[in-house]
Amino acid sequence: MSAVRLDKYLAQSGERTRSQAARAVRDGLVQVNGATVRDPAVKVGEGDEVTLAGEPVHDEAVQYYMLHKPAGVLTAARDGRAPTVMDLVPPALLRRHVLPVGRLDKDTTGLLLLTNDGALAHALLAPGRHVWKRYVARVTGRLDGEDVAAFAAGVSLSDFTALPAGLTVLSADEEESRAAVEVREGKYHQIKRMFSARGHEVVALHRASFGPLRLPDDLPPGGLRRLAPGEVAALRAAVLKSSDKEG
Ligand code: URA
Repeated sequence: MSAVRLDKYLAQSGERTRSQAARAVRDGLVQVNGATVRDPAVKVGEGDEVTLAGEPVHDEAVQYYMLHKPAGVLTAARDGRAPTVMDLVPPALLRRHVLPVGRLDKDTTGLLLLTNDGALAHALLAPGRHVWKRYVARVTGRLDGEDVAAFAAGVSLSDFTALPAGLTVLSADEEESRAAVEVREGKYHQIKRMFSARGHEVVALHRASFGPLRLPDDLPPGGLRRLAPGEVAALRAAVLKSSDKEG
């Protein structure tokens, strides 16, 4: 992006007119690289961090974010009764239709990708082209080698047989076990159903990674952060790789 006037940049990046944008600048609501700028003619470009009323503003038409979804929040449009992930996304991003890619259950925590890149979202969710996702699960009962073998073979459920999945037991005792699970599908309650078919109930489920994206330790529950350009490139590469594999 070549450098443009700040008021133009703000008008391009949200649903506000150029004069509304200029007023916001004069009112001291706009910061560039952490400093308040009151001149709408100041030029901004690639690499400048612009915020409006504390919310990040980005010029690109397509945007990519990761959210650390907390427990108790629905992955859905606004619900009226229960909080949804939309309540955690700044209005400027909602106006640009930055939406979750896939779903996590209400009680599941962890990495949720959000974007308004419909083509990439579609490719990431297309059957047979799913990227690998890594979860950490706490389940009732002792997980053992037979569970690992069953996940690797593909757990048979009432309506479909899951694709082979990775199960790594992290700790196991009579009452409760912890395990890392790697799946590349995303069917409704998939992991809970896979464990249930093996006689274990999921007590807690956390998504630690989505394709090449890892949930960083410093992103707290409820936290949202923009993907770095390298992360977006890695996601695209993962989609291409998965489509090669699946034919
Ligand atoms: N599998 C589940 O059962 N729940 C989720 O939220 C994600 C995967």
